[in-house]
Order: sequence, then structure tokens, then C-alpha cells
Amino acid sequence: MQALVLFLCFAALLGHSSCQSLASGPEEGSPDPDSTGALVEEEDPFFKVPVNKLAAAVSNFGYDLYRVRSSMSPTTNVLLSPLSVATALSALSLGESTRESPVHSPGSSSLGDVTCPRRLGKRAPLRIKSSFVAPLEKSYGTRPRVLTGNPRLDLQEINNWVQAQMKGKLARSTKELPDEISILLLGVAYFKGQWVTKFDPRKTSLEDFHLDEERTVRVPMMSDPKAILRYGLDSDLSCKIAQLPLTGSMSIIFFLPLKVTQNLTLIEESLTSEFIHDIDRELKTVQAVLTLPKLKLSYEGEVTKSLQEMKLQSLFDSPDFSKITGKPIKLTQVEHRAGFEWNEDGAGATPSPGLQPAHLTFLLDYHLNQPFIFVLRDTDTGALLFIGKILDPRGT
Ligand SMILES: *[C@@H]1O[C@H](CO)[C@@H](O)[C@H](O)[C@H]1NC(C)=O
Repeated sequence: MQALVLFLCFAALLGHSSCQSLASGPEEGSPDPDSTGALVEEEDPFFKVPVNKLAAAVSNFGYDLYRVRSSMSPTTNVLLSPLSVATALSALSLGESTRESPVHSPGSSSLGDVTCPRRLGKRAPLRIKSSFVAPLEKSYGTRPRVLTGNPRLDLQEINNWVQAQMKGKLARSTKELPDEISILLLGVAYFKGQWVTKFDPRKTSLEDFHLDEERTVRVPMMSDPKAILRYGLDSDLSCKIAQLPLTGSMSIIFFLPLKVTQNLTLIEESLTSEFIHDIDRELKTVQAVLTLPKLKLSYEGEVTKSLQEMKLQSLFDSPDFSKITGKPIKLTQVEHRAGFEWNEDGAGATPSPGLQPAHLTFLLDYHLNQPFIFVLRDTDTGALLFIGKILDPRGT
């Protein structure tokens, strides 16, 4: 069967924050600590800013997607860039004739249809309408490709494209593509974190990481005996939360259970844009003895089933993609490839004076030496860029 593939790449997006920064300004008046959720909740002014509101909606899609993925893989790492999946789906909506995308109205291009080259097959090439290609290219910087229908060659082509886009940072996939693919949507993302305060490589050493109550492995752990981080203890979730800033207006929030466990359900269930935003406001700047594993992980997999479980089944059976091509065509597979990396690299050697804790009463320990969750966000809008469940820092 002929297949269409939409390649979408968001590496650049993660390098420098592309979400428009609308500073929300200093927030007036902190919420009354006695107020309970039972009362009618005032909408946080933060979410009244359109960009933040949009970011929150897309991020909530991401947290949902993460939960589904995580429950499907209870014993392995999960790594997702939900934004790339959301954007891929949104790009595809340009081709849906039942729904007009409010953001992008395809221009009335009359350049004639684009015929994508095919290497194999005897049938007439699948023609993709230029009225779909032009706006896709303009808004998303990507072009659809027609695959050959030979799963091995197609995989090679996809791998080559991913390699070229990601400058070889993501490993080649060896998984064969199913041959019944009609539209394959591919969201790809790679991220390498740069800490605002770099770690001293001389302090990195092999340390224990507790996989669960019984098993321990030795992994390279970075450490900073005088780290400045934002911290909070969540007794409802039985976890210690810490936030570390990255360059490019991004930050990572870690969720570390009080005891070693691979069951992070309790924390996962509470992840929403609103919850993370509240946490962000409540964390206090402290000084801590910080250790965390060096990380270089990659992930590839289908998110088709997850999306179907998220009641997005209609994406796969009802849409009319006649804007894409004259032939009947269906979305059959959504794939995600993601890479994530952090090591000692960072911008500066010492924390900026503004980050100094007001008063040092005691020194905290914060050791990410057991399963944890991390959330990488754009600081200005709160947009979720990456989310991961790290059960084994060596990768899986
Ligand atoms: C994981 O933890 C949740 C909440 O604490 C609990 O309801 C659930 O049964 C646990 N799952 C497993 C597999 O132990």
C-alpha cells in the first residue's frame, strides 16, 4: 500500500524557546493559604494570558499522553516530547476537510499538485495537493513524503531524514514499519540541557542508583555540594520536589518519592498544568547537597494506541483527508522518537546572586538516586516540553 508520511521535527524548537514570551509580570497577592479546593476557585490570572492558556491546554494533553504511556510501561523508562506529538496532530488537521483549522487557513494555491517521487511500485504516484503542502511548509516547516510501500526502504528513508534533522543525535530505528500504513505521523524531538549553573566534572563519580527496593546499579552521578535549587516537600504525594533552571528560559522540576519505588502513580495522577504552576509558585529557594545521574536516553515508539485510549479514536476513523490527496487515506500510525540528554554542561560556574537563598537554616540533601519523574517546561508560558519517568538512568 502506498503510504504518506508527515515528517515533523522540533529539535530547533527545544534549543531556544519558541513559545512567545509574554511576561506575566509580578503576581499580585499570593493565594490565601486557608482556602480549600472546595470553594469556587478563582481562575489564576496566569491562565488568562492567551499564550499561557494555550500552553496549558497543550501541556494537559501531554500529561494525559504521558500517563497512558507510563501505565503501558510500568517497568521501563518513559520519555516524551508531547509538544511534538501535539504539533504533528495539529499539522495534520490542515489536511482535514471537515474542520477548518482556526490558526492556519490554507491559501488558495493554484500551483498544481505536488508529485512526490517514489522509488518503487508500479501504480501511479500518490499525489499530494499543493494546497496542503504549502501551508504545512509555511507553518510547520515540513513537507509530507510519499513512502514506497516497502517497509524496509521506508524505514531507511525515515531514518535518514531523522538523522539529517537531528544531526545524528538520535539512534537509527531498527523496528520495521508495518506495511499497511496509510498516513504515518512522526514527531521527533531532541533535547540537550544546559544548566544555568554547571556541575564540576571532577565531582562526578560512580554511585549507587536504587532501581527498586532490592536492586542497585552503579551509574555516573554528578554532584554539587552547594547547589542552589528551589525545593518543596509534598506530603500528600510523599515526594520531594526540586526545580533547577536551564538556559533558554527553561527549567526542570523533579519529583522524587520519599521511599524507593517504581510505582510513581500517585505523582503521575496529579500532574496537570495547573498543579505544576502552583508548585512552581510554592517552591522555596534553598541550598542543598545535590546529586543526579548523567542522562542520555532515547525513546521510540508508537503513540497510536495511547492516543486511541485518550478518546482520540475519531482521529483514526472519521476524518476526511481529501485536502491532502484525492485518494481515500487514513491516519493509521503516530510515531514518536525522542532523545534527551544532560551532563555537567552549563552556562556559569556560580549561581547568580539573585538565586541565593535568603537565609540558610539547614543544608538539605537531594539525591536523585532512585526512580523519579522530571518535567521540562518553558519558564515563561509553562509549556511542557519534555516529560520523563526515569526508572533506570542507563536506559532501557
Ligand atoms: C501503585 O500506587 C497506587 C497509589 O499509591 C496504588 O493504588 C496502586 O495499586 C499501586 N500499583 C501497584 C502495581 O502496586
